[in-house]
Amino acid sequence: MNWSEEIQNWYLQHKRSLPWRNTTDAYTIWLSEVILQQTRVEQGMPYFYRFLEKYPTVTAFAGASEDEILKLWQGLGYYSRGRNMLFTARQISDNNNGIFPTAYEELIKLKGIGEYTAAAISSFAADEVKAVVDGNVYRVLARWFGAEEPINSPAGKKLFQVLADEVLDRKHPGRHNQAMMEFGAMLCRPKNPDCRICPVREACNAYQTNRINSLPVKLKTVKIRERYFNYFLISHQNQILLCKRSMNDIWANMYDLPLIETPVYTPTETLTFLPEFAAYFKQATIISASPIRKHILTHQRVFAHFIHLQVDPQEINMQPNWFFAELEELEKLALPKIIDQFLHDFFHLKQVQTELLF
Ligand code: ADE
Repeated sequence: MNWSEEIQNWYLQHKRSLPWRNTTDAYTIWLSEVILQQTRVEQGMPYFYRFLEKYPTVTAFAGASEDEILKLWQGLGYYSRGRNMLFTARQISDNNNGIFPTAYEELIKLKGIGEYTAAAISSFAADEVKAVVDGNVYRVLARWFGAEEPINSPAGKKLFQVLADEVLDRKHPGRHNQAMMEFGAMLCRPKNPDCRICPVREACNAYQTNRINSLPVKLKTVKIRERYFNYFLISHQNQILLCKRSMNDIWANMYDLPLIETPVYTPTETLTFLPEFAAYFKQATIISASPIRKHILTHQRVFAHFIHLQVDPQEINMQPNWFFAELEELEKLALPKIIDQFLHDFFHLKQVQTELLF
């Protein structure tokens, strides 16, 4: 057996039974792969089922509204992925009779589909001879070849693509790719890989030179931007003041609470002296302020602070993207995770307190 056959042999014996592995439907594979770029298998599975149940075909997906897709995507983060999926589904539905392409060269032209996704779909759906390179594959290759080129440098990316192409089983590219990813996820793990039971350790460069824990090499990435979001919770009867976010920032087009962003942490009382505060509220009383909640994104760290305000609706200068929503409506709106969690906690707590009072 050559190396790829060894890995595939391990895969056939140990693979998890995952729903997207029993299909050659390109749409289903696309759904699973885009979700799995966002999250791990266990967390991605319920999203995969929900999407597939609601939108069994690419044409059904194309008929969804952006709000509906963002709502189903809620919690996965990186919301432009959900939006790009909708764009692509509509394009396929309108221009390709709803037939999801399976050829790499067609797939790579579509919005939101990069080299990884195009290689995954074309090899899984049509056994096209394309090697996938994801985080798992980088790790397996770096260890097997003992390659120290950083995986996130331009030279590293080129090198690992060459290595991935070199080991690819041209007769069974789909199964080879699945096996590589599964082997990386389950055995050749980032921490505590199971080298004791590894079928290829005798010829594994990193194992033989004791470099398992130092490979792959990754360059430190760009500086994380810190942002301070001072949110206002304003409720009136059974309604709550919401704000639709703009297109050109994180959580684009999602529903948020009104906020003032500050470059550093700003105490609640100080906020009320800011010109934005006066521009939004003619008269307001602070009821309470939450502790800071931290939310980590790929290149940003958001520090959120929630200030419960008592404001008469007539004292609010409603901004063009502000509106009052019924509390029951919140279930239908796509909210950033941090807002969803806060509102859940807040209204649940209030309910508990009310129950205790009476
Ligand atoms: N991660 C990304 N794609 C995957 C797949 N097809 N199976 C399991 N894990 C994955």
